[in-house]
Amino acid sequence: MSTWYDHPQYFDMVFRDETAGEVSFFEKAFHSFVPRPVSRVLEPGCGGGRLVVDLAAKGYAVTGLDLNQRMLNYLGRRLRRRGLQADLIRGDMTAMNFDEDFDAAFCTFNTFRHLLSDRDAVQHLRSVADHLHGGGIYILGMHLIPLDADPECIERWSASHGGTRVHVTIRVVDFNRKTRQETLRVSVKAQKPSGAIQRIRSEFPLRIYTPDQARELLAQVDDVFEIAGIYDFDYDIDQPRKFDEDLTDALFVLRKRTE
Ligand SMILES: C[S@@+](CC[C@H](N)C(=O)[O-])C[C@H]1O[C@@H](n2cnc3c(N)ncnc32)[C@H](O)[C@@H]1O
Repeated sequence: MSTWYDHPQYFDMVFRDETAGEVSFFEKAFHSFVPRPVSRVLEPGCGGGRLVVDLAAKGYAVTGLDLNQRMLNYLGRRLRRRGLQADLIRGDMTAMNFDEDFDAAFCTFNTFRHLLSDRDAVQHLRSVADHLHGGGIYILGMHLIPLDADPECIERWSASHGGTRVHVTIRVVDFNRKTRQETLRVSVKAQKPSGAIQRIRSEFPLRIYTPDQARELLAQVDDVFEIAGIYDFDYDIDQPRKFDEDLTDALFVLRKRTE
């Protein structure tokens, strides 16, 4: 079974409308939470680079890291077409290695939940902290799934661009509280301008977090990160959220502690 991450153009088409709101939130968070001007930023799991491209266009020095070379090739082409630059690195976000530190980093859209064990999740958070200046922030967005939530879930997205129309259905096909994993099946149907239809079906696991499990995870890195702010997928900096059972679309602003 192929992975839909091997088809970055479709991922980008479907989620491009979210990008401006996210980037606007990031910039407000940079101003509100980081004690120095933000110029160097990092996106672990950057994928096809919706966010990398937008931030590079705004003049930030952006580094995008991803495991998937096809995503990075696609992103490289997008940057070149726009006459923009960013550092693109193929690597694993649990063990990153950069020569220079960053002012801020961000990872939204459940990418963090690709890390399937506590060890990998903690290792990743520590790896980000290792590469941030003191006072730098990590904006981390992911769905939390409270114990009483219905695990049966289907999301449908559609988008059109350049004559291609894409429909994406994301369905939870397996959900296991014990192993802390759910399996998502992504079905993509793309109709090209010629009328030809391409179908892609891919399945992958994500780690499950209840609000309490997210709290426990963040407590494990409390020596390096404080929780500076909590928001949700409305990306509204004027509407902070409480860390309670109702927090299902969580957007954490973690700030690296200064010694
Ligand atoms: C949901 S996509 C997000 C793309 C991008 N952040 C966005 O919002 O458009 C998740 C990306 O994370 C990457 N990924 C998954 N596990 C990874 C890991 N351990 N290290 C680096 N990248 C990883 C995948 O290859 C994929 O491109």
